[in-house]
Amino acid sequence: VSQESQDVLNAYEWLTKLYHHLLRHTKEGKTGYQYLIDRGFTDEVIDTFQLGFSPNSKEFIVQFLEKKGFHPQTMVKAGLLSMNDQQEVSDRFRGRVVFPIRNHLGKTVGFGGRSINNQEPKYLNSPESELFHKGRLLYNFDLARSHIRKQEEAVLFEGYADVISAYAAGVTNGVATLGTAITEAQAKLLRRYVDTVVICYDADDAGVQASYKAAKVLKKAGCTVKVASMPNGMDPDEFVQQNGAERFRKEVVDVSDTYMSFLMRFLKKDYNLNLEGDRIQYVESVLDEVALIDRPVEREHYLKELANEFELSMDTLTQEIMARRQKIG
Ligand code: UTP
Ligand code: MN
Ligand code: MN
Ligand code: MN
Ligand code: MN
Repeated sequence: VSQESQDVLNAYEWLTKLYHHLLRHTKEGKTGYQYLIDRGFTDEVIDTFQLGFSPNSKEFIVQFLEKKGFHPQTMVKAGLLSMNDQQEVSDRFRGRVVFPIRNHLGKTVGFGGRSINNQEPKYLNSPESELFHKGRLLYNFDLARSHIRKQEEAVLFEGYADVISAYAAGVTNGVATLGTAITEAQAKLLRRYVDTVVICYDADDAGVQASYKAAKVLKKAGCTVKVASMPNGMDPDEFVQQNGAERFRKEVVDVSDTYMSFLMRFLKKDYNLNLEGDRIQYVESVLDEVALIDRPVEREHYLKELANEFELSMDTLTQEIMARRQKIG
């Protein structure tokens, strides 16, 4: 690491502690603390994840960093401070609850700052830098890694709050991407530790759409993919806060769909199965997916499902699959 990166790492470490201290023990941090408590986060959770608060002041953090000897220019470059047109620097995260984003070694390499007064954007993340590659990091991977190994399963969430609530409730094998769609690099990282990944995104349209894309990326990386679903409109954090960990495990994670059943349900949305043309198109789109499955037993399983549902013969479906597999090669 360059000297500059080392400085930035040190600044992140100082600020993680400072933000956390301010949240836990000072009146400047009270609004942030109250916000988290109202959301159901306990002191223990706040400490484990070193959640913090950046006071709504232009100078506070700037002065702290200056006193510690950090160069404003470096801090601006690292995205810790922002600079306005008048070349004045201020804390990028001021007025926000701060979620430190740790790398696999547990070192803070970025922050996600959540507004507590409906200010947009809801989450402000550190910008991409030499240390902070959003497409290669997974939130909470450092804490979750050993649990993922032991439980032979990882749970992939959308948000920091989902990971934290789940973790606090005993679902310790959860990670999240950093506000972006899952990348090939992140999928490969997971695959190095585990075979099965349960996608547990928000139960809204965006979440379902994102689940479909994530399922494809994970599958391509060689993962066994499952997709969990929750009552409409909920996200995992809300579910856990309302219903507790046991119900989350029993009613969400443990009963998640297999990749193909999710896919079949997902593809169905686009068709009106009362129409003959739509029925045929739907069957064809499912066949495209079944043809990609390597295990014959698995292929047959889904073909039987299709055969039953649409009153088609296994012969016809098998021929369709063979034609498709020949094309794929
Ligand atoms: P969500 O909108 O589902 O937020 O976005 P959330 O995780 O449920 O957050 P809470 O519960 O309202 O606090 C999912 C993730 O997308 C990223 C964040 O990483 C967030 O956790 N995101 C969302 C952003 O980066 N910026 C935004 O403005 C919104
Ligand atoms: Mn503490
Ligand atoms: Mn969402
Ligand atoms: Mn959400
Ligand atoms: Mn949420």
